[in-house]
Amino acid sequence: MYQKSKDTRWHQDKDPERLDCKLSISIIQHFYRGGRILELGTGLGFFGNMIENNVENAAILGTDISKTAVTEAGKKFPRIAFKVHDLTVPVAESSLAGEEFDFVVLRGCIWYLFPQMERVVENIAALTAPGGNLFVSQNFPPLDAQFCGKEVVPSPEALQRYFNGDFKIVASTIFDDRSSQGGNDLWCMFVGEKPR
Ligand SMILES: C[S@@+](CC[C@H](N)C(=O)[O-])C[C@H]1O[C@@H](n2cnc3c(N)ncnc32)[C@H](O)[C@@H]1O
Repeated sequence: MYQKSKDTRWHQDKDPERLDCKLSISIIQHFYRGGRILELGTGLGFFGNMIENNVENAAILGTDISKTAVTEAGKKFPRIAFKVHDLTVPVAESSLAGEEFDFVVLRGCIWYLFPQMERVVENIAALTAPGGNLFVSQNFPPLDAQFCGKEVVPSPEALQRYFNGDFKIVASTIFDDRSSQGGNDLWCMFVGEKPR
């Protein structure tokens, strides 16, 4: 996905200008109570860097399945730690075996993970410390259109339901950013808390 791309994949370099990212940062600032932050599927690290720059005392690890992305992210943002990690592999067999984080972030990754949704949710729960938080932000195409993954995750509410068993949802919003181009900017954002 990254090796052959001439442009910055998914225009990640535009993240700092994007309204959904700014809103996401406000939500993270509100709920973050200190400790280790894990950004899963960080890509080139632009959103992770926004967290690092805007959330006080954030100690962040960014992970991604792509070695190319992780290497590039490390060059761009040397103050952040990055690691290759596959979110579909059971945590105990993964590069994050034995690790737990106080705040876990997942932005824009569901359309790459939906074929293994239950496994992914199980892994995210295992990586979140008891009492820790999860923040998910996910874009959806217009819900009345056909899109890849619709049979598994047809709506923001359906996405949230996958996390209901492991997390208590403490905040959620659906944000329709019609000022953006592409018709792909219905964002579902929610915060979950893992019971102690
Ligand atoms: C649309 S990009 C989002 C990047 C970043 N989170 C952001 O908000 O700018 C989706 C990312 O998910 C990563 N990804 C896909 N499958 C993955 C997996 N199984 N485990 C971890 N990351 C994965 C991709 O490599 C890609 O960087």
